[in-house]
Amino acid sequence: MTVNRQWLLAKRPDGMIGPDNFKYTETPVPTPGDQEVLIRNLYFSFDPTQRNWMVDRPSYLPPVGLGEVMRAGSVGQVVESRHSDFNVGDLVQTTGCWQDYVVLAPGEGPMGLNVLPPGVPPELMLSVLGITGITAYFGLLDVGKPIAGDTVLVSGAAGATGSVAAQIARIKGCRVVGIAGGPEKCAWLTDSAKLDVAIDYKAGDLDAQIGAACPDKWNVFFDNVGGSTMQAALNHISLNARIAMCGGISGYNDIEPQPGPNNLMNLVTNRGRMEGFIILDYLHRAAEAVQELIGWVGSGEIQYQVDVQEGFDNIPATLQRLYTGQNKGKQLLKIADPE
Ligand SMILES: NC(=O)c1ccc[n+]([C@@H]2O[C@H](COP(=O)([O-])OP(=O)(O)OC[C@H]3O[C@@H](n4cnc5c(N)ncnc54)[C@H](OP(=O)(O)O)[C@@H]3O)[C@@H](O)[C@H]2O)c1
Repeated sequence: MTVNRQWLLAKRPDGMIGPDNFKYTETPVPTPGDQEVLIRNLYFSFDPTQRNWMVDRPSYLPPVGLGEVMRAGSVGQVVESRHSDFNVGDLVQTTGCWQDYVVLAPGEGPMGLNVLPPGVPPELMLSVLGITGITAYFGLLDVGKPIAGDTVLVSGAAGATGSVAAQIARIKGCRVVGIAGGPEKCAWLTDSAKLDVAIDYKAGDLDAQIGAACPDKWNVFFDNVGGSTMQAALNHISLNARIAMCGGISGYNDIEPQPGPNNLMNLVTNRGRMEGFIILDYLHRAAEAVQELIGWVGSGEIQYQVDVQEGFDNIPATLQRLYTGQNKGKQLLKIADPE
C-alpha cells in the first residue's frame, strides 16, 4: 500500500471518447487528516454523464479539470479512519474517482460518504440502490407521474436506469413499452423484466414500431436517449402526456449538437409537459426510494443485470462500452475485493 494508481483526464473529448483522453499515473497513497478517512476503492460505477463532465462547459457539476483524476462513483473500504462515524473495514459508497485510494470527509463530493446497509453487496449498491435506481424512481414517479392503466414508453429500457424505471411503471399498474438495441436486450425486457412490449430500435423504423406498440398512444415517456428517438416518440403522444427527460445519450459524443425534434408542437396540441431533472436534487430523499427498491428487489418484482469488468488498466475502455451499447445492465468495474 504505497502506490496510488490513477487515471487523469488528459485531453478533452472531440467526438467519441477514447483511451487518449486519459493518462495513467502513480502517486503516493494520501494520508487522512483530522475528521477524514482513507478509502480503498473496490468498484467503480460507469455513468454516461461522465462524458459530459469531461467537457469544459457549465453544467450541474463543474467539469473535471485537465490533469485531474477522472471523477467517478465508487464503492470502497475504509482502511484508515480519523472520524468517529467510520470504522476500518466499513464499505462506503462515494465519489472515489479513478484511483486506488481517496481521502474524504463526510459530506464531501456530490454523493457524500455513505456506509453500505448491512448485507447489501457493492454491485446492488451501485445499481438498483444507487444513482441509477434512485434516478429511475424519482424520475418516473415524481416527474413522469404515471397513473395505473397508462401506457409508459421507456427508451434505453435495458440499461441501468431505464430497466428500473420500466419495471416500476409495471409495478404501478401501467402497460410498459421499452425501446432497446438488439434482440438479446429486447428478449430480456419481455422475458425477465416482464414488459408488455420491447422495441428493437436497431431493427429500423422506430416511428412505425412505436405506433404499432402504442395503438392508443403513450401517456408517459421516460427518455434516456433524446435525438431521433425523442422525435419518433413525440409522434405518438397522447393528451396530457408527461415526458421525464432523464438523459440524451444519443448525443453525448456528437461534435455538433443535434437539431431539436421537428415536432415539438405535438406537446402544445396535446397539452403535454416535458420536464428535465437531475437526481442530485433528490438525494435528500434517497432513503425513501431505497426502502421501496430493496423491497421490490427482494420480492423479485425488479430484476436487474450488472456488467462487471475487471482490472485498473481497463477503466477507460469500460467507459466507452456505455456509448456503444456493449453494457448489459449497470456497467461496473472491479479493481479489488473487500478484505
Ligand atoms: N437525470 C439524471 O439525474 C440522470 C441520472 C443517471 C442517468 N441519467 C441518464 O440516464 C441514461 C441512462 O444511463 P445509465 O447509467 O442507466 O446507462 P445505461 O442505460 O445502462 O447504458 C447506456 C445505454 O444507452 C444506450 N445507447 C448508447 N448510445 C445510444 C444511441 N446512440 N442511441 C440509443 N441508445 C444508445 C445503450 O443501450 P442500447 O444497447 O439499448 O442502445 C447503452 O447500453 C443516460 O442518458 C444518462 O445520462 C440521468
